[in-house]
Amino acid sequence: MLTVEGLRSRYGRIEVLHGLDLEVASGEIVTVVGANGAGKTTLLKCLSGIQPVTAGSIVFRGEALTTVPAHARLQRGIAQSPEGRQIFTNLSVEDNLRLGAYLFRDQLVERDMQDAFAMFPILKQKRNLAAGGLSGGQQQMLAIARALMGRPSCLLLDEPSMGLAPLLVTQIFEVVKGLKSLGVTVLLVEQNAFGALSIADRGYVMETGRITMAGPAAELIADERIRAAYLGL
Ligand SMILES: Nc1ncnc2c1ncn2[C@@H]1O[C@H](COP(=O)(O)OP(=O)(O)O)[C@@H](O)[C@H]1O
Ligand SMILES: [Mg+2]
Repeated sequence: MLTVEGLRSRYGRIEVLHGLDLEVASGEIVTVVGANGAGKTTLLKCLSGIQPVTAGSIVFRGEALTTVPAHARLQRGIAQSPEGRQIFTNLSVEDNLRLGAYLFRDQLVERDMQDAFAMFPILKQKRNLAAGGLSGGQQQMLAIARALMGRPSCLLLDEPSMGLAPLLVTQIFEVVKGLKSLGVTVLLVEQNAFGALSIADRGYVMETGRITMAGPAAELIADERIRAAYLGL
């Protein structure tokens, strides 16, 4: 579904992605794990089109995306739930969801909203309240639900577990795992390597702008080097 080859990106004169190769097949949950500063967010921004690529290719469903602008990538089925959630705190929960559906003017938006509420009943309860009043975990649910309102076939998730209490971390990873049954393909980037690898089919380890390991998630979790460096085991 998504093939990235030789991807390079820079901020000014400083290159931070040094030629990444990765692949996501339809229906998979793929995770990229790595420490703070490894370049995970930059990678997702390159994929969603808000960060310039200096070399390499991004092919989505057979089409080269490198020169396709961000809004057109959403039309093609790629949605992002950004790092730090980036919800509109002054707007209601429902209006945040509507913004995720800005591409659509059809009645299916209402259906999608009901689907989102079925998935996250707490958001239904709080639909008319300002999103800024939600807890961290609820805001993360809203960020995921808002991205889903764009009807993506491929969802990019940037550190959904960041800053959440352990119980909520588990809950959010369960939600991400559940996206599979909705037919949504997921590319998840996380510092929480254990949580992410526990729900993923395959994983990549990223270190300072390079992929250093790749494989089935179960194999990565069992790897001694990864256990020592990322899992604290
Ligand atoms: N807007 C920016 N301007 C300059 N450097 C940046 C910017 N954003 C990130 N960086 C740098 O790029 C590198 C990768 O950052 P990032 O993609 O945010 O990593 P991660 O998401 O894995 O923590 C880091 O060294 C970071 O300091
Ligand atoms: Mg990041």
